[in-house]
Amino acid sequence: MCGIVGYVGSEKSLEVLLGGLKRLEYRGYDSAGVAIVDAAGELHTVKRAGKLSVLADELAAHPMANGSTGIGHTRWATHGGPTDRNAHPHLGDDGRLAVIHNGIIENFAPLKDELLAEGFSFTSETDTEVAAVLLGREFRATGSLQEAFRRVVARLEGAFTLLALHQDEPGVVVGARRNSPLVIGLGDGENFLGSDVAAFVEHTRRAVAIGQDQIVTITPNEVKVTDFDGNAVEVEAFEVAWDAAASEKGGWSSFMAKEISEEPDAVANTLRGRVLDGRVVIPELEAFGDDVLAGIDRITIIACGTAAYAGQVGRYAIEKWSRVPVEVELSHEFRYRDPVITPTTLVISISQSGETMDTLMAVKYAREAGARAISVCNTQGATIPRESDAVVYTHAGPEVAVASTKAFVAQITALYLFGLHLARVRGSLSEADQAEYVAELLAIPAKISHVLESSESIAQLAKWMSDSRAVLFLGRHVGYPIALEGALKLKELAYIHAEGFAAGELKHGPIALIEAGQPVFVIVPSPRGSAEMHKKVVSNIQEIRARGARIIAIAEQGDAAVLPFADEVVPIPLAAPMFEPFLAVIPLQIFAMELATAKGLDVDQPRNLAKSVTVE
Ligand code: F6R
Repeated sequence: MCGIVGYVGSEKSLEVLLGGLKRLEYRGYDSAGVAIVDAAGELHTVKRAGKLSVLADELAAHPMANGSTGIGHTRWATHGGPTDRNAHPHLGDDGRLAVIHNGIIENFAPLKDELLAEGFSFTSETDTEVAAVLLGREFRATGSLQEAFRRVVARLEGAFTLLALHQDEPGVVVGARRNSPLVIGLGDGENFLGSDVAAFVEHTRRAVAIGQDQIVTITPNEVKVTDFDGNAVEVEAFEVAWDAAASEKGGWSSFMAKEISEEPDAVANTLRGRVLDGRVVIPELEAFGDDVLAGIDRITIIACGTAAYAGQVGRYAIEKWSRVPVEVELSHEFRYRDPVITPTTLVISISQSGETMDTLMAVKYAREAGARAISVCNTQGATIPRESDAVVYTHAGPEVAVASTKAFVAQITALYLFGLHLARVRGSLSEADQAEYVAELLAIPAKISHVLESSESIAQLAKWMSDSRAVLFLGRHVGYPIALEGALKLKELAYIHAEGFAAGELKHGPIALIEAGQPVFVIVPSPRGSAEMHKKVVSNIQEIRARGARIIAIAEQGDAAVLPFADEVVPIPLAAPMFEPFLAVIPLQIFAMELATAKGLDVDQPRNLAKSVTVE
């Protein structure tokens, strides 16, 4: 939600800010703005409703003064609609200071009343402007941006990352965070702040993640981090594992198309360094202790959206291989039902961004209740891994398109690795079985490449089906969460009503939806796995076919049993049944992307969405 970038250094703030905002636009794209202090010590602000391109056009038509100190923002609206007035930055101290914000200030109403009673006025409906006006008042009282900022953040409740600058203190940007991300980029004679490293990776790959309730002050040659009381905090720098090119479109029609093409690498890179002689050893879990893992008697996976569907796939494997009961729950539901948590409960959170507020709060809740927490995350320096006992990073590389694709297969990879690691520690799988499953995993990247190479027919199908009004998806066992994911992708990208069902559930109600011509995707389990399950899904196909459904079967190459009943068959390479999700999801992602493209929609930035949901 909202992308934030700050810069101090040479007279190139505008270029740095716009470059950073471009890379952060996936976080929110309903308005954007920048504030810069020029060489004469004067603050200039430009902000516009709409995507970043609207701001860029405005700046091209009416160039603004450049300077060595600046902040920039791309917004996903919470308080106040997406208008020019509500866009950030917001001003205080009679236009001498500017503030940008990510999150929600929950006590903004009483603060606003206090300021109104003192005669201050407001131009927007946002909670952020309250912080800006308050900061102006405190600056007048203290004469110091840092001290004023410290006083302001101490009064705020809720979730926030705030950045501020004042024209009387050029060369200084202050920032603070609570339950919302902020990362420092360390440069040479220049320093950066960003919602994530994408904001500045073009300029530096040395970064520092700011902890909870901390304040940072950057000048061109200094970075100072304190807690909210002003006590100095030691920080540790890390090297960003990818470079700027990884977050560029690089000739692809969309980030999503590029990211789908990267799925073989996302799996291969997540496997790297974690497989040894046919066994899985996840080095990051060594600190956790085998005895602790061996003593775990229940696992709860928490996540949202696509990550939760990855969790549902992972559940089948972890439970089967380790024989530890696994449940999967949406993060926002988990916390409010008073779940049973003991010291032998393991909570595994899954989050591409590592910032999803619902998941972060659920992790904190679980740890406070005594659970151990492992995070499966794709973003270095993110908050959820920092709040967990251990992290298993997915190495999918930066995912820019708002809809998740390559992170999904990387998350399943990490969960399968975890399942095999746990099974080894608990002795629940024979060496031969471990070696067989490891071999299956190692073969997945090449099989995904094969699916990608033969995806032309699914692209054609999407074009033919671009005026569909509703599409259903059916699956069983590990195919069930894939059906749910296929439906989610279609909803969010193509704005088509889509629903996923467990194939066995159909006859308990949803079959009433079937009418002549209704498109239904069916993920058919391999006949080489459970022959009974395969037979049941083929029967399900016949049941809906008899009622007029148009069947698109995603089935293993050579599965002759589905041919007589399917209108289209999308073949996927042979894999052991537990490993089919890696392959079956690819045509569904491509289908949603191509159908949205055929409808002329922006597949990278679907309406109303943001990549990183940092509000509850
Ligand atoms: C769907 C999608 C979302 C995310 C969800 C969790 O394509 O991207 O459903 O999966 O918002 O986000 P993370 O993984 O960042 O916690």
